[in-house]
Amino acid sequence: MTKSADLKARKAAAVPNGVGTKGIYVVKAENSELWDADGRRYIDFAAGIAVLNTGHRHPRVMAAVADQAQAFTHTCFHVTPYESYIRLAERLNAVVPGDFPKKTLFLNSGAEAVENAIKIARYYTKRSAVIAFSGGFHGRTHMTMALTGKVMPYKRGFGPFPAEVYHAEFPQPYRGITTDQALADLDRLFHGDVDPKSVAAIIIEPVQGEGGFNVAPVDFLRALRKLCDEHGIVLIADEVQGGIARTGKMFSIEHAGVVPDLVTMAKGLGGGFPLSAVTGRAAIMDAAHPGGLGGTYGGNPICIAAAHAVLDVIESEDLCAKATHVGQRMRMHLEALARKLPCIGDVRGLGAMVAFELVKDPKTREPDAELTAAILAHAEQRGLILLSCGTSANVVRLLAPLTIPDAVLTEGLAILSEAVAAAYGVEADRAVA
Ligand SMILES: Cc1ncc(COP(=O)(O)O)c(C=O)c1O
Repeated sequence: MTKSADLKARKAAAVPNGVGTKGIYVVKAENSELWDADGRRYIDFAAGIAVLNTGHRHPRVMAAVADQAQAFTHTCFHVTPYESYIRLAERLNAVVPGDFPKKTLFLNSGAEAVENAIKIARYYTKRSAVIAFSGGFHGRTHMTMALTGKVMPYKRGFGPFPAEVYHAEFPQPYRGITTDQALADLDRLFHGDVDPKSVAAIIIEPVQGEGGFNVAPVDFLRALRKLCDEHGIVLIADEVQGGIARTGKMFSIEHAGVVPDLVTMAKGLGGGFPLSAVTGRAAIMDAAHPGGLGGTYGGNPICIAAAHAVLDVIESEDLCAKATHVGQRMRMHLEALARKLPCIGDVRGLGAMVAFELVKDPKTREPDAELTAAILAHAEQRGLILLSCGTSANVVRLLAPLTIPDAVLTEGLAILSEAVAAAYGVEADRAVA
């Protein structure tokens, strides 16, 4: 029995079924590569689901964490606060879009950041309703499950969910949903289901992550900003997956030139250490009474030290430009592949958040979840870690670390072509050539 097979059996016996995993049991990782329990090397196009934008174990992140561990590892910011938390808040207040005073609160996970953004918006507006979007993903806690617009695997069997959450269509040109149709759907909601004057917040991922890397059109985001201004609604950009340089800008909403009231972030912020944040207009962030926000671990000093190093690395290694470069190379590769293979119906994304959609027939665009799963399996056999996404589980997403060396990216893309060709049943060299 291999070590991986043994770990798989032990995992099945000791860990609940609901905690889904791949079969790769990691023992070591470095930048864009990792090694499993049997010594097999993998190229990592998942980056811990968009967490390792700065790569596995970036030396500056490791050094910052080691230094902080020499000083103190936890006190709880509410009990004995520390300067590094305040300084990180100052740094995020400066980089989050918006030419107005801002404040930042630190938490542990993306879901917790979203929960707090909703709490803050409700407190500030004294309203209860929240609007989210079809295909959106915001986490696995009760409120964030309610906000999520994808039933499997996130919602089935876990209800009832908190009330006063409404879903509107997210524009998806490939699926025939235009900006106008999505706006008409919001109008329908405002006339049929919820008074806009009762809405505390609209929350949107400017680029949907789990939903299939659907990029919100610029005119749609601008129209949302206008609607929020008209009705006194707080606009929340969920940048948990698309933020922290992933799309070629610090926050993905910057591509649209739209300024949200609150931004949620996590994943890439901690460079591999659990940290999330809500940053936004000071007047909104300050609404809640002392003690109403926070938690035991939020803004843990080790994670805060890692985040300072992450921000330094993004600046010193120009990771926004690197994201654009990595994304362009991925797109060109996938577009060439799509010209040869009709199973690739669409290639899309923003910066280094790139995905391709698998269909049974390019005319009917019927989703092909089986082919998608087969591509992931073939890639893994060949040493490449990929993730799927999309409400029909028929989209493959590429989320390589932004620090990936060009040679490793080339190698990973070649494996990707082979995996697609093998899963589709075409000779690899014919597909790749
Ligand atoms: C856009 C978005 N929001 C929220 C979350 C939830 O983050 P976490 O898993 O850290 O709770 C995710 C996670 O994938 C996400 O992509």
